[in-house]
Amino acid sequence: MSEEDAVQVCVRVRPHNDREKSLQGGSTAEAPQIHWKADNQTISQITGAKSFSFDHVFHAEETTQTVYDEVAHSVVLSVSQGYNGTIFAYGQTSSGKTYTMMGNADSPGLIPLALHNLFEVINADLM
Ligand SMILES: Nc1ncnc2c1ncn2[C@@H]1O[C@H](COP(=O)(O)OP(=O)(O)O)[C@@H](O)[C@H]1O
Ligand SMILES: [Mg+2]
Repeated sequence: MSEEDAVQVCVRVRPHNDREKSLQGGSTAEAPQIHWKADNQTISQITGAKSFSFDHVFHAEETTQTVYDEVAHSVVLSVSQGYNGTIFAYGQTSSGKTYTMMGNADSPGLIPLALHNLFEVINADLM
């Protein structure tokens, strides 16, 4: 990583949950409206009024493993070489922070993936 790349800011879009799906297309005031679209590095209002750029935008179909490979793996490798590294999730309630960081048995989060990877690196060093 070059120095300018020391901080990376990524966005992860989560899939709609069942409640949001059940409201889709409904006519109540609660029905979710899609206001934003995403490509690989930007989130834009569909009206085109505003657009925000990030180092990476992860789409709803992308797995936590992909997020790990693209943004967390290099931090873990740097840590194993003595650099300080921090990965944190920021977002409103129910946006997917716990899912991304802790995960579950079917889809481990960045924390278990990082620990697993760190022990792999240590193990390879001892060989
Ligand atoms: N990328 C994702 N794919 C599938 N389900 C997700 C994803 N992100 C979040 N969820 C689900 O959405 C709900 C809210 O996510 P959660 O991680 O608890 O949010 P937060 O910790 O930000 O409040 C949970 O039921 C979680 O399993
Ligand atoms: Mg949480």
